[in-house]
Amino acid sequence: MTVVIYPGTFDPLTNGHMDIAERAAHLFDEVIVAVAKSAGKSPQFSFEDRLAMCEETFSVFNKVSVDSFDGLLVDYAKSKSAKIILRGLRGATDLDFEFQLSGMNKTLSPTCETLFIKASDTTSSISSSIVREIAAMGGDVSLFVPPAVAMRLK
Ligand code: COA
Repeated sequence: MTVVIYPGTFDPLTNGHMDIAERAAHLFDEVIVAVAKSAGKSPQFSFEDRLAMCEETFSVFNKVSVDSFDGLLVDYAKSKSAKIILRGLRGATDLDFEFQLSGMNKTLSPTCETLFIKASDTTSSISSSIVREIAAMGGDVSLFVPPAVAMRLK
């Protein structure tokens, strides 16, 4: 049974994240969407809200479960007996950061591999921070995020 961890801050979860999780569920036995509790990015949404938005959204997805973690991602992956960390790649701007992250995770835990799924053309321009900005200025974000997120952003 192949379990993969799909980690993120999810501040908030977007259709881009959903696309990656849904496609991964076709490839692996179980996808754990892992919400980072105290992400270093000072998230705008509370941990409880970020978790609830993921739980509500993914409750109807087969083979996708939602969990949270605090501390090192590689330690969390080990606790779930998962050897694969999954990340989405939207384009060249994601590469530097993702290569750094996967390289350091690999050094910390040599048996842990990071796999990347290319974001779909329809979602590759979506970013959580731009979604927050549009919402703050009264724009309609329902095209970019699932209903559970759009409702909270309102
Ligand atoms: N489609 C659309 N947007 C996407 C996307 C996709 N497929 N994939 C990523 N994004 C966007 C997000 O919307 C977000 O946008 P923003 O930059 O505007 O906020 C951004 O990419 C990244 O956010 P997210 O996907 O939530 O992940 P993250 O980069 O915040 O996650 C952790 C980082 C949690 C994985 C990392 O900090 C971590 O592992 N922390 C635990 C501590 C640890 O182990 N540290 C050492 C690591 S070596």
